[in-house]
Amino acid sequence: MGIKAFSDDFLWGTATASYQIEGSPLADGASPSIWHKFSHIPGKTKNNENGDTACDHYHRYEEDIDNLVKLGVKAYRFSIAWPRIIPEPGTINRKGIDFYKRIIDRLLKHNIEPFITLFHWDTPLWLEKLGGFRKRESVDHFLFYGETLFKEFGDRVKHWISVNEPMVYTISGYVIGDMAPGYKRDLRGLFHAAHHLLLSHSRLADALHGFSKGAVIGIAEAQVWVRPFKSGSERDKRAADLMDKLINRLYMDPVTTGGYPEKLLAKAGRYMPAGFEKDLEGMKNTCDFIGINYYTSQSYRYSLFTPMIHAKEMQTPGCKRSAMWEIYPDGIYNLLKRVKDEYNNIPCYITENGFPLNDKGRSDLLDDAERIEYLKDHIRKVMQAHKEGVNVKGYFLWSLMDNFEWNHGYDMRFGIIRVDFKTLKRSWKKSAYWYQNIIKTGLSG
Ligand code: NOJ
Repeated sequence: MGIKAFSDDFLWGTATASYQIEGSPLADGASPSIWHKFSHIPGKTKNNENGDTACDHYHRYEEDIDNLVKLGVKAYRFSIAWPRIIPEPGTINRKGIDFYKRIIDRLLKHNIEPFITLFHWDTPLWLEKLGGFRKRESVDHFLFYGETLFKEFGDRVKHWISVNEPMVYTISGYVIGDMAPGYKRDLRGLFHAAHHLLLSHSRLADALHGFSKGAVIGIAEAQVWVRPFKSGSERDKRAADLMDKLINRLYMDPVTTGGYPEKLLAKAGRYMPAGFEKDLEGMKNTCDFIGINYYTSQSYRYSLFTPMIHAKEMQTPGCKRSAMWEIYPDGIYNLLKRVKDEYNNIPCYITENGFPLNDKGRSDLLDDAERIEYLKDHIRKVMQAHKEGVNVKGYFLWSLMDNFEWNHGYDMRFGIIRVDFKTLKRSWKKSAYWYQNIIKTGLSG
């Protein structure tokens, strides 16, 4: 069975992020980010790898855009490195702006719609030293940075994404500690940072709409399809419901339908910043669209011994896994339907979906048949949701090319284009040809 075409204006795209692809993080007047610092601390990333060179996109962006053109994408999602633009508080770095201006102009020349993420985790180190997103002042700094970009690019860029995956940034960065800024078991940090990131989003939305009438802004939300381990167990259902609120709805509700999930506040409200309630009215309905980054499902069972949440993640029996997560295509459909049914059918994009492969033990490094199978299954589900009336307007495949997969270093490859990290040569994998064909015909074998 083939994948039937979506409507003609459906935006097929790919996605990347600054620290993961650019390299040269300190070039031309940029200051370090928290990821620059974190990845240089021994033991924090796989093989102590870092983004010093990454894909060298900073110098090879023309070749990378040529690949986008060849793929035929209609849109490209990428992020801007905040410390290249604002290397210290209140200072604007022209050379940083010029770098992204070259990229934007080249994309537009080829009729590729830029979707710009303002913040994909590379917080300026100076901001972290001031307390980072724990502090309410971070909102003003974020606004200054955002307004700088809106002024520079607002005439040409119509699609903006304020924050990438606030859930992963706050849970990994403040509780698990496996990602920058690398704090552990800091629930206050988690809830403060979450609130300030969401508040920043709403302030940025107000600012953007003031600058440019036709421009739209959303958030890219990491959304996991959360299930009870035993579907018949009431306690497991309650555990899964709470985890759904913690992982998904905490980051989604305040900027859409409004308010934090009550049940979560009852448990964790004491970790929220004082007076947060006063912000809520202004945060509501501030997304012109929702971005969904979907990769996986998770199952939870009741656990007496897990403090506060009383939920423990389990492996779902019978569920296939990739090198990182469970594979569950129905999850993308369920989450899209949820946007329709529970979030007023707000326009949405799949802002990320993709498949990790490790090179080890593979004879043909360009043959990524498993990736094609994953993508096909997920795109089918997106199509089904689209047919059933979900207002899904585009799909961004993660990722254009192999890149720095954060704490997993360069081992975990998501690209449809292979990057040889020794020579930096780009080579198309089978999935790139496959995706090129999907974009062209909307059909696949
Ligand atoms: C989500 C993140 O936004 C992106 O940076 C990351 O590489 C992919 N998921 C894969 O883990």
